[in-house]
Amino acid sequence: MKFDTAAGQNPIDAQTVVGQPHPRIEGPLKVTGTAHYSYERQDAPSAPAYGYLVTAGFAKGRILEIDTRAARAAPGVIAVITRDEAGALQFPGGGTPDYLAGDRVQHYQQAIALVIAETFEQAREAAFLVKTRYEAEPGRYDLAAFAEGDWPKLGAETNEMVSKHAEEIGDVEAALAGADLRLEQRYSTSHETHAMMEPHATIAAWQDGKPTLWTSSQMVNWAQRALAKIFDLEPRDVRVVASYVGGGFGAKLAVQSDAVLAAIGARQIGRPVKLTLTRATIMNNTTHRSATQQRIRLGARRDGRLVAIGHEAISGNLPGGREEDAVSQTRLLYATDNLLTSMHMAHLDLPKASDMRAPGEAPGMMALEVAMDELADALQMDPVELRIVNDSQTVPAEPERPFSGRHLVECLRLGAERFGWSARDPQPGQRIEGDWLIGMGVAAGYRNNIQRQSAARVHLEPDGRITVECDMTDIGTGSYTVIAQTAAEMLGLRVEDVTVRLADSDFPVSVGSGGQWGGNNATAGVYAACVVLRRMICDRLDLPEPDTRFAEGQVSSGATSMPLSQAAAAGRMTAEDKIDYDKDLSERYQQATFAAHFVEAAVNRWTGEVRLRRMLAVCDAGRILNPVTARSQVIGAMTMGIGSALMEELAVDPGAGFFVNHDLAGYEVPVHADVPQQEVIFLDHPDDKSSPMKAKGIGELGLCGVGAAIANAVYNATGIRVRDYPLTLDKLIDHLPRP
Ligand code: MOS
Repeated sequence: MKFDTAAGQNPIDAQTVVGQPHPRIEGPLKVTGTAHYSYERQDAPSAPAYGYLVTAGFAKGRILEIDTRAARAAPGVIAVITRDEAGALQFPGGGTPDYLAGDRVQHYQQAIALVIAETFEQAREAAFLVKTRYEAEPGRYDLAAFAEGDWPKLGAETNEMVSKHAEEIGDVEAALAGADLRLEQRYSTSHETHAMMEPHATIAAWQDGKPTLWTSSQMVNWAQRALAKIFDLEPRDVRVVASYVGGGFGAKLAVQSDAVLAAIGARQIGRPVKLTLTRATIMNNTTHRSATQQRIRLGARRDGRLVAIGHEAISGNLPGGREEDAVSQTRLLYATDNLLTSMHMAHLDLPKASDMRAPGEAPGMMALEVAMDELADALQMDPVELRIVNDSQTVPAEPERPFSGRHLVECLRLGAERFGWSARDPQPGQRIEGDWLIGMGVAAGYRNNIQRQSAARVHLEPDGRITVECDMTDIGTGSYTVIAQTAAEMLGLRVEDVTVRLADSDFPVSVGSGGQWGGNNATAGVYAACVVLRRMICDRLDLPEPDTRFAEGQVSSGATSMPLSQAAAAGRMTAEDKIDYDKDLSERYQQATFAAHFVEAAVNRWTGEVRLRRMLAVCDAGRILNPVTARSQVIGAMTMGIGSALMEELAVDPGAGFFVNHDLAGYEVPVHADVPQQEVIFLDHPDDKSSPMKAKGIGELGLCGVGAAIANAVYNATGIRVRDYPLTLDKLIDHLPRP
């Protein structure tokens, strides 16, 4: 199905099932331990051998020798595989380090060998017996050094730093010079790790030269294509299954060493291999979100209207990698005639930086929305009003290009009313309750909505049930449930009448889980397949399609009504289609999602300890397919925002070049005790340009801006403006107001 014009009225609008608060249909499997995650698949071949990684103990340099003799002689060891023994492999290169280093080591804990043994413990024991001789070289590990002194010139490049994006509309310098009020500040965010609950894990088996991987992946099709390339196979010869995934947050978009090395190992020994990365290996062996350095310049008139916005950022990565694009949303959020955005990427010899939930926007909104709070403060203007007067219904640099739907102002106004914003004292440090300083903060939230092709297959079974198949993943987000709701709505059934089979590369290629695009696009693909199936059913039953209704298990037209199952009485009926977006629509309309975040924070007036009290997010994300699963996405993202604002930081050892706090004891993420009352309000504005579902992304929106609302609440409580995140108590304690 081509989607090239705004959606008209369609069966989803009935919202009999879609839009209803249905609990997750795979929930019972998860709470009874019968949803099998990759490492414990019961349907994978039995008697697998166990793999364990040997990783580099230095960040950069050359391996002179890997001595595997002791490891090979250890009890239970089946094989020790280094790059020399791994056979021909075509790793992608560029910013992706080789999954199995040869003599060049690109980052600390890069895999250099795989030990395979009869048990996990034997493999681990033997891994510690592998001895390496190496020649380390000095590397660059400090991003902050690139932002010292003068800010890099627009588009300037050096050997150590490349320009990824540089754009200026109007004349920012001149507009700043003429502004009634100017603000220039620098901000920094930390390296972060995904810390999803389920570690990377794979079982791999080969048969007749073709591998099957049961692996924890967000993107089954990407994994299939990557593995095909690595082993020089046709994609169809690689099977990837990822039925249940215990979180990803971007860590599982691309295949990691667990999948690649399990497959290498299984091929080598002619036996299935299972391989998980230990928690302490994940932070340095896999990818992370790069730290950022940011400079923001704002110029405003007395009435708060922005006359200039400059947002420049630097992130780090291995050469050839991607930037953490912290400035992209700034081109889209606020109206101004003079706008400068630039993104530099510095060469660091740390592990590869890559996508983490809301890549770019998460750290970018952190800085931009604190800067807006600083501007409001300088203008003595309410920060909610400052955002409202600078709203833009069109893309600031392209006045003829409107947003398909933008209700940021409504988010802000409704949120202010519900949160009791009028009780906030604009003067910081005024509200004291015992040992606690109390403050409120606000920030806008912004994240793009992305349209991507997605296919699905639907079967009408002889008993009248529906089966849906596509390679979509459910990474804890509710994909199974919203897909079942979509098929149920389209065929006039209940959710219980639909079986959903996901995340197998044998099924049609869906959009996968990433970029908050999964929910809207995957269900739109199911919608497209259901449209075909409805037509086939009408043909079979000899009913005129336009007048036929599907409801309560019946197919009806005029006075004729018969059970849906009748259409498949002679055998299963199968339809397959995809949603295929015309570029024209996304070129004519900018698609995005919006939020307003409100936070009330308490800061201990003696210790600087920050305790959040209340959080509210008002979200504008098109039709909400399921308010229960959508709310879970938003409060999960808000919780992640607490982490990035107050605690999460991968600390770099500046000499050795690795992340020191590589476990969940040292890398702190919020626990339940850190999470206060959280409320989510969804605006009800279906977006007819987004898809036939009229839905948009929600999974990353909840993270964008929430950290800034926290920092702004801490400022309102204490009068202390921290611009270096996370905002830990050591950054407050020396500056707390003295009574
Ligand atoms: Mo998200 S970082 O695109 O999984």
